[in-house]
Formats: sequence, structure tokens, C-alpha cells
Amino acid sequence: MRSLYAIIGHPVGHSLSPRFQQAALDNAGIDAAYLPFDIPPEDLSRGVEALRTLKASGFNVTIPHKEAILPLLDDLSPTAREIGAVNTVIARDGRLTGENTDGPGFLGAMERFLAANGLSTPSSVVIFGAGGSAKAVLWALPKLGAERILIVNRTKKRGEDLLGLLPTGKIRVQAAALDDPEWRTELPRASPSLFVNTLSLSAYTGSAHPFPPLAEMLLDGAILYDLSYASHRPGSALLAGRTPFLEAGAPFRLPCQNGLGMLLLQGALSFELWTGQGAPVEAMESALKEGTRQKEFWKTL
Ligand SMILES: NC(=O)c1ccc[n+]([C@@H]2O[C@H](COP(=O)([O-])OP(=O)(O)OC[C@H]3O[C@@H](n4cnc5c(N)ncnc54)[C@H](OP(=O)(O)O)[C@@H]3O)[C@@H](O)[C@H]2O)c1
Repeated sequence: MRSLYAIIGHPVGHSLSPRFQQAALDNAGIDAAYLPFDIPPEDLSRGVEALRTLKASGFNVTIPHKEAILPLLDDLSPTAREIGAVNTVIARDGRLTGENTDGPGFLGAMERFLAANGLSTPSSVVIFGAGGSAKAVLWALPKLGAERILIVNRTKKRGEDLLGLLPTGKIRVQAAALDDPEWRTELPRASPSLFVNTLSLSAYTGSAHPFPPLAEMLLDGAILYDLSYASHRPGSALLAGRTPFLEAGAPFRLPCQNGLGMLLLQGALSFELWTGQGAPVEAMESALKEGTRQKEFWKTL
């Protein structure tokens, strides 16, 4: 019987996962379909039960369900528990286990990006955003060697709630509100070597000015990394791989990349967890390149 894999989210139509996960299944000769299901928050519980009933072999979880799904699952992996968010669910013997491959995906993509461009390990990092993906980034940053982290978010409380996720003692971590001018004036002293954007695109749509205002804060030698890989101007920036965040940084000619490399690596890890076999990463990367027309995932854009 044909197996079922899926991605659930709201909205989910923009997701590239069906494209490259289906390519992976086909390349591996696995008789399976990978389908997107748009499930609004109020239907999440029934949606998960429906996937149980349909005996889905596994599924991905995207915005806005990554944290809300936790109590609906039977087990959590140590990584999912540590991060507090799930992007991959594995179904085995009638039980649903939540895993998080976003953290390892970000870590792997950053390591590859730094190596491909001959860049040093960043020690001081600014993260914009405090949602589910910021948690995954926070999990990865100490493993990357970060020693100092500033979380900047619209809702300061949400950033503060993340401080406890990091191992105590070793890392200096602070949270600030996006509209608080103080952290911007303090920034040069921290001399950040990496800015990671995890704000959703809605933070940029309708904004006449680059947001956050990178021009004010960019410093020599910094790296820009955006988890998003889409543009709010269809057709234009996506061709060059430049998200609104990266576009704002373009005049400064800093090393930069978007989230396609992370997307690829988190998806490859999900595939391996579901199937128990190595992911056909090249086939997945080709499918993603075809879908986005972006040619380079690892070198600076
Ligand atoms: N490349 C990948 O593999 C990958 C993996 C995961 C996620 N992502 C991308 O990462 C982004 C965030 O995902 P997520 O799961 O972290 O989302 P999320 O949990 O919904 O968090 C969204 C973040 O954006 C902020 N935000 C939303 N609208 C805003 C606005 N109008 N003004 C200012 N801030 C605003 C939120 O601030 P508040 O806390 O104040 O609401 C929050 O910090 C998405 O674009 C997603 O596609 C990419």
C-alpha cells in the first residue's frame, strides 16, 4: 500500500517541502505521497487524529503549530523536549513521536556556510525574533561556539521566556524589545559577528523601511543569516535569493544567506528519521533549486 507523508500548517500552500520531499521519496524508490494539509489552529487536534487514522508514516509541522502540537503527541525526543518545539513527527506502532530537526538543520547549514566562505565562528550573535524557530537557533548557537547572545523581539516577554533555554553560566544572553532604542546604542560594544533573522515575513510586509533598521547597526565583519527564504515582492528578490532582511543588508556587502540550506538539511534529517535510510540530498537540493531558481545555498549571496 502507498505510504502517506504530510506537512501540516496554516497557511501551508507556500511550503517547498512537498516538492523536495516527494523528489526524495521518488529518488529512493519509496512508494509514497507527501501532501500539504492546511489546518487552522482550532482544528489542530482533529487534524492530528485524522493523520493517525489515515496511518500516515510521518509528517512535518510548520507555522503556527510547532509548539501547540506538543501535548497532542505520545512521545518527544530529547532534542524536541530541549527546544520546546516540534517540526517532525514520526509514526511507529501507532505512536506519534515529536522531533525537532530545525535546530540540527540550522547548525549544519551555518557550519557549511561558514566553511564555504572561509568565515570564523561567530562569538557574539543578535537574534531577531523569539518564536518557534528562534528556539531552534538558540539550541544550536552554543554548539556553534557563540558566547554572547542578544534576543530582540517585538514582544520582550517572549524573548525573556527563552533565556532559560540556554545552559547557565557559559553564555551571556539578554533579551530586548525591538522598539527599545537602548540595545541599538549598546550594540557596537557587543560587536556582533552574526545577525540571525527569525521574524516572520509579516514583520516586513507593509513596512516602507527596512525592518529591523539594519543601516543603523551593521558593523564590519558581521554575517547576515535569514531563516526565511521568500520575498514579499514576488518574482524579484527570490530570484537572487534575497529576502527583505537580506535586501536591507545588501548595500553593506556583508556575507549573507537565506534559509534554503537550513530547509534542505532539516528536511533531509526528517526523511532519515521516517525511512531509516540516508536521504538523497542531491535530489532534494535539485528539486529545491528548480522550485526557487536559486543556484547557491552555501556560498554568500
Ligand atoms: N529555513 C527553514 O528551514 C525555516 C525553519 C523554521 C522557520 N523558518 C522561517 O522562520 C520564520 C519564523 O518562523 P517561526 O516558526 O519562528 O514563527 P513564529 O513562532 O510565528 O514567530 C514569529 C516571530 O516574528 C515576529 N513577528 C511576527 N509579525 C511581526 C510584526 N508584524 N512585527 C514584528 N515582529 C513580528 C514575532 O514576534 P512576537 O513574538 O512579538 O509575536 C515572532 O518573534 C518564518 O518565516 C519561517 O518560514 C524557516
